[in-house]
Amino acid sequence: MRSAAAAAALALATLFAGWVMTAPAGARYDPNDEWQGLPNGKGREAVFYSCVACHSMAIIHQQRLNRRVWTEVLQWMIDEVRMPKPSEKDYQLILDYLVEHFGQDVPR
Ligand code: HEC
Repeated sequence: MRSAAAAAALALATLFAGWVMTAPAGARYDPNDEWQGLPNGKGREAVFYSCVACHSMAIIHQQRLNRRVWTEVLQWMIDEVRMPKPSEKDYQLILDYLVEHFGQDVPR
């Protein structure tokens, strides 16, 4: 009985450690950070400068969306709230960045 409990505790601890280690470092909204907590990566600048004109990065940190829904959000920003349409290159950078760092399966 005791060892079963210990084994369960160890399994839990291992799971937890695995989760902590796979969680992307620093992917938390931070108003004092120069990138507001956006994790480093290709496309970060394009995202930051395209979106910060209207709202903070907190709204992005809150989301975990798949590629289809991120595509819809970008289209919504362009069509409804008049975000200037990014160049084709920036659009791809932005979409890839959002899916990679704020995709459906990215831990919070
Ligand atoms: C021109 C201003 C503007 C720009 C630029 C802009 N947004 Fe927005 N965004 C808004 C407004 C306004 C809302 C609130 C819309 C509403 O709730 O009706 C919003 C809402 C959102 C939401 C919340 C959606 C929800 O479910 O509530 C997300 C996510 C979002 N924006 C992402 C982005 C991203 C990513 C970028 C940069 C690529 C961006 N926005 C650029 C104006 C902008």
